[in-house]
Amino acid sequence: MEILIRPTADAVARTAADLVDSAVRAAGSHGITLGLATGSSPEGLYAELIRRHREEGLSFAHARAFLLDEYRGLPAEHPQSYYATIRRILTGALDIPDDAVRSPRGDAADAAAEAARYDASIAAAGGVDLQILGVGRNGHIAFNEPTCSLASRTREVRLTASTIEANSRFFDSPQDVPTSALTQGIGTILEARRIVLIAQGEQKAEAIAQAVEGPIAALWPVTALQLHPHATLVIDDAAAAQLRRTRSEEE
Ligand code: GLP
Repeated sequence: MEILIRPTADAVARTAADLVDSAVRAAGSHGITLGLATGSSPEGLYAELIRRHREEGLSFAHARAFLLDEYRGLPAEHPQSYYATIRRILTGALDIPDDAVRSPRGDAADAAAEAARYDASIAAAGGVDLQILGVGRNGHIAFNEPTCSLASRTREVRLTASTIEANSRFFDSPQDVPTSALTQGIGTILEARRIVLIAQGEQKAEAIAQAVEGPIAALWPVTALQLHPHATLVIDDAAAAQLRRTRSEEE
């Protein structure tokens, strides 16, 4: 696993943007397929990508994007749906075509059929070239909560109380937070050709230490990244604080 430790959240955003920028430019007119995460972790990266699009000619006109997950029961147009959120914080400000941004339909009547359709649509697009990931405090990735299968596919999952609590800041009250979601599985996520995980802050330090140094275990879903041939963590000093092999020891 490649670990890039930066002193500030701004530097994390710039480093992650460098990785995405060069992959988008390298794909050229063939077009990259991005995997997009919601949550606060990639917001700095997304702001930097928008800046480069506006000021440095970084174009997403040929890109496609698949979201990791979506709240169950929320239609795409609901302001707190992950589809609406990603449009607000990223894709709405880029030149990526609207119909090239896909998410699981949270309001689909048949969750299992929608999950299978979503996995098939990722495969039909040739798979994800670069997946952007955050991580929950408890080590969840997308909405794959502790103890879920490391081989899981896209499916409906129940959210843990801690995730509902953490995400309630985006809703008027905790009762408004959906209690389940459609999420890409860990097996689905691991099929991306490259993974870039972003984490900032001390509340992510234990999850990062587990991701890098812990045993691969369903109790910490993020540890599945150890099985991926090209995963990069871009983290700040605070998120790196519990790593035993720190940067200063390596220097
Ligand atoms: C949410 C999302 C994840 C995200 C995580 C961390 O529950 N489903 O994709 O990585 O929480 O969120 P944040 O980046 O806001 O800490």
